[in-house]
Amino acid sequence: MSKKAAIQKPSLSSEAHIELCETYGAHNYHPLPVVLVEGDGVWVTDVEGKRYMDMLAAYSAVNFGHGHEAIVLAAKEQLTRVTLTSRAFYNDQIGPFFKDMCELTGMEAILPMNTGAEGVETAIKTARKWGYVKKKIPDGKAKIICCSENFHGRTTTIISFSTDPSARGGFGPYTPGFEIVKYGDAKALAKAVDANTAAFLVEPIQGEAGIVVPPAGYLKEVRKICSDTNTLFIADEIQSGLGRTGTTFAVEHEGVRPDMFIIGKAIGGGIMPLSCIATSRAILDVIKPGEHGSTFGGNPLACAIGRKVIAILKTGEFQKNARDVGEYLFGALTAAKLKPVKEIRGRGLWVGIVIKDDFGKARPYCEKLMREGLLCKETHDQIIRLAPPLCITKKEADWAVERLTRVLGS
Ligand SMILES: Cc1ncc(COP(=O)(O)O)c(C=O)c1O
Repeated sequence: MSKKAAIQKPSLSSEAHIELCETYGAHNYHPLPVVLVEGDGVWVTDVEGKRYMDMLAAYSAVNFGHGHEAIVLAAKEQLTRVTLTSRAFYNDQIGPFFKDMCELTGMEAILPMNTGAEGVETAIKTARKWGYVKKKIPDGKAKIICCSENFHGRTTTIISFSTDPSARGGFGPYTPGFEIVKYGDAKALAKAVDANTAAFLVEPIQGEAGIVVPPAGYLKEVRKICSDTNTLFIADEIQSGLGRTGTTFAVEHEGVRPDMFIIGKAIGGGIMPLSCIATSRAILDVIKPGEHGSTFGGNPLACAIGRKVIAILKTGEFQKNARDVGEYLFGALTAAKLKPVKEIRGRGLWVGIVIKDDFGKARPYCEKLMREGLLCKETHDQIIRLAPPLCITKKEADWAVERLTRVLGS
């Protein structure tokens, strides 16, 4: 056992921890029965000292691996300086973070928040305000178009435009002002856009839906429709962004630029919640003092971490590894010709393995994989999602494929 674990030796067994969690916590998740105490790169260790490969990376929030030395160091240094000032004052990390983020996104202005859902809420508010101030949409009429099977978070407004009954059901009344079109169908978008449409909100690749890559050319058509109709093209890159698909942003695969990015998850280095929207000065200037914000948004600790993450992304090293190992993993899984597998899809180090209906659901396979030392998670009933930290090596990918072949081959 490593030095870290020896210092904080857990006194309870995995079973006891799970019991505590289930007894005193809300049952809003259905975790695999594993209790983690330590992480290093793509590896995590449970209470009993068993090692697992983390093939989920906290739903893509740990893109650079657990305990990335430079990111941890940036956090530690900032911890000893100042961690929270609120936006009542400036701090010495937020301005440099904004500048670095503008350089990374090619945008002009940033509004920082904490969670992804808050980033999406920020995008919605900004788009609506822009619609009224700049597009002259009549007050209260702004429409935002979203996609079927979308996932953008869990707030009451965001679930109002979810098409997933379990995300939405029982939580009404719902926020009006949203229209759903079929994901991947540019014609449906063109038909839905009208004079009151402020924005089109879309995941360049749908994550929670099961790593759904839209038809080639879709995002290019989206760009054209949005430009032709003065509609904001908002790309939710909270999960698809920051190297996951082999490029810094997934929209790059089609060579398009949105009017606004929403960024979250991995920008916090797996340490702090940090999210933001990145857009043009003309768009973001519709938000005035007192109209939006968050006590923790733009705090110096998160910003110091975000700056380090951006510096790491600028080297392109993780994007390249996501391309190389992603292709390798995809090739190896395809070559394995596993009987229960209907389809393997994805991009970079983001893979959805669709299980044929007559081979049962994905969950029991994830449980078996856990027992084999590989942690991944089902999404919906039939899909196993693989999203390892982007530092995974080909050798480690081989290790994973060996387990996947054993479990899915049986
Ligand atoms: C595309 C997308 N948008 C938004 C969110 C919500 O982020 P958070 O859970 O940090 O609120 C997620 C989370 O999975 C996501 O995948």
